[in-house]
Amino acid sequence: MALFKRKEPILGIDISPSAIKLIELSRSGQRFRVEAFAIEPLGEGMMEDRNLTDPGEVGEAIKRAWRKSGTRLRRAAVAVPTSSVITRAVPMPADFKESDIEVNMSIEASQYIPYPVEEVYLDFEVKGPSQANSEMQDVMLVASRRENVDTREAALKEAGLVPVIVDVEVYALENMFRLLMDSLPKASGESGVSLSKGREGLTALVDIGATITNLYILQQDRVIFTREQGFGVDQLTVQIAESYGVPREQAEQMKRSGQVADDFSAMLLEPFKQMLAEQIGHGLQFFFSSDQYVSGRYNVDTIVLVGGGAMIMGLDRVVADLLGITTVVASPFKSMGSAVKVNSSALLRDAPLLMVAGGLALRSFD
Ligand SMILES: Nc1ncnc2c1ncn2[C@@H]1O[C@H](COP(=O)(O)OP(=O)(O)OP(=O)(O)O)[C@@H](O)[C@H]1O
Ligand SMILES: [Mg+2]
Repeated sequence: MALFKRKEPILGIDISPSAIKLIELSRSGQRFRVEAFAIEPLGEGMMEDRNLTDPGEVGEAIKRAWRKSGTRLRRAAVAVPTSSVITRAVPMPADFKESDIEVNMSIEASQYIPYPVEEVYLDFEVKGPSQANSEMQDVMLVASRRENVDTREAALKEAGLVPVIVDVEVYALENMFRLLMDSLPKASGESGVSLSKGREGLTALVDIGATITNLYILQQDRVIFTREQGFGVDQLTVQIAESYGVPREQAEQMKRSGQVADDFSAMLLEPFKQMLAEQIGHGLQFFFSSDQYVSGRYNVDTIVLVGGGAMIMGLDRVVADLLGITTVVASPFKSMGSAVKVNSSALLRDAPLLMVAGGLALRSFD
């Protein structure tokens, strides 16, 4: 009977250049609980351009993460990078069924994809009725190079796991964002007024990674704009290594612990935070000058920081001061419980790193 049928949860595994991030969630009623998680560093050179150069080695790291977490699940969801997929909104007649959409998708796809259709996996998601035309529905076409998917699946299998879902980073982030949306500070007390003027508050989700920063603009819980920028927190590690003449691993430790020479803050850290804030500002400028931005109609009310960069102490304040927008560090697990075996202080500390993995684990409950 459906009532008693319990869906077996799925592990969320983020295979990212700096580390494997793995998480298991459970749900009872509306409440989620973290059952297990682990972050296992990846050696240099295992990924290039966010692709796996050696699925075997990455598989070993996944296995270590799996053991470390104490989970017993073997079914897993992974994601390909947002910038590696091509997405297109395609309007289709509202009465089209899945099978009709499928047939039309492959025909449409050949127009949009710059490489042979045999080299890509195609998928689609029905977004709902078109706002412009009630006889149409909006369908999102998603295409990914086979290579990106196949190497990730190979790494999971190498680790003894079963790949059941291959998602896209941006959708995993959307999923996780939905959970923390309600806890975000409301736009400086005037949201009622701006709503009545027909303005709608947007959120900027900024994922500051090791080498790449992604800016996502969300309208409610939907991403409407993305932009990838080529900078990340590894730059700070390099600066520490050069300035203090220490190896990279040591510089990495110094960066995380904040235990560096007295002049570190004034010399490197504060200018670095300032640079990050300016770059986020540039990203926002791109959005404001894009087609998606309807002049004057939208405001970015809140900036939410995720990824390793979000862990730099005080970055939120620097961004808020420079851009004049309320800025917070994402803390998606604050409202969740956690199993006894989970180190809850490490979980809360590392939360910004676990957004993608968490969003993947949420697929269990779709
Ligand atoms: N406590 C910390 N303080 C400062 N930096 C940190 C901290 N913890 C992690 N980092 C840095 O964050 C980066 C990793 O962040 P993240 O895991 O979001 O990147 P990634 O997803 O692996 O890479 P990318 O998104 O660029 O592809 C590394 O540069 C790491 O040194
Ligand atoms: Mg990342």
